[in-house]
Amino acid sequence: MTISLNSPLDMHLHLRDQEMLKVVAPLSAEIFAGAVIMPNLVPPITTIEVLESYRDRIVESIGDSKFAPWMTLFFKSDYDREFLESAKEHIKAIKLYPAGITTNSEGGVSGIDPKSLAQTLGAMSDLGIPLLVHGESNGFVMDREKEFGAVYAQLAEAFPDLKIVMEHITTKESAKLLERYENLYATITLHHLLITLDDVAGGMLQPHLFCKPIAKRPEDREALLRLALEAHPKVMFGSDSAPHPQSAKESYGCAAGVFTAPIALQALTGLFEAHNALDHIQAFVSDNAQSIYGVKPPQKIVTLEKKPFEVPDNYGEVVPMFAADVLEWSIQSID
Ligand code: NCD
Ligand code: ZN
Repeated sequence: MTISLNSPLDMHLHLRDQEMLKVVAPLSAEIFAGAVIMPNLVPPITTIEVLESYRDRIVESIGDSKFAPWMTLFFKSDYDREFLESAKEHIKAIKLYPAGITTNSEGGVSGIDPKSLAQTLGAMSDLGIPLLVHGESNGFVMDREKEFGAVYAQLAEAFPDLKIVMEHITTKESAKLLERYENLYATITLHHLLITLDDVAGGMLQPHLFCKPIAKRPEDREALLRLALEAHPKVMFGSDSAPHPQSAKESYGCAAGVFTAPIALQALTGLFEAHNALDHIQAFVSDNAQSIYGVKPPQKIVTLEKKPFEVPDNYGEVVPMFAADVLEWSIQSID
């Protein structure tokens, strides 16, 4: 049994830089046709010069792979219109982080309200640049995304023409918000479709499943699964694959992030098959994103077959999700 995916896309990806970039970028570039690249480097990407030289390093690290790295800037409330006009041709979106909420987000925004962000958001809306949001408050860890719902509502109402993507949603409340506001969209990760907090901390602590936002309750996972399996047109696959060295994960003070890029398509195919939803996987991993972002990725056919795939223990210094497990689907060919 096989299934072919046409130009699979990862609409939320961390590639890092330097040695880590060289390890992880080829893994994504081999099996995906394009990805939205997150800007939370140290320091974050806030100028076109830095962004273009980062893109060059990505392109250099992926060799001949047919892969579009779609770049993003790190949101600042004082970007002026002229800057954004010239940035537009270099980027696909701008990513907003609440200050300090996740890995390398110290330079983010404290106290998000539409008025204080109006300079940048107004120009983005006029120029048609989508806003990507890490939607968490600084409240109790399990309630952060739910609490952020009020901010999503304010942003969506204040800027009705701005495309807003709720990144890596994890709650049933976020799933509902999608229906309430026409200009809200969402990415969903692989791991949030598969795990709950129980898998992270219900038994022995699993550092490689620890990420932001933290995995939630079974009913939240159900709500995400419904959206993904029906390939809801406002929802796209975004792995949020976020590599950290093993030493930073298995340590005192575990870094947040799950590394899924090289195993995501195999695991997603297994998940969609288990729910008799294979006819919707193409829309979830590519078509919806193409319509939402208005992008045309390079042509790449990835064929998966139902044949055991032994997930490696590690890729360089990084331990993937399902390390040393056997998945039911593997990649057969890439054309
Ligand atoms: C991401 C990272 O490591 O850059 N970590 C994570 O837990 N998801 C940042 C992010 O997307 O929150
Ligand atoms: Zn992320």
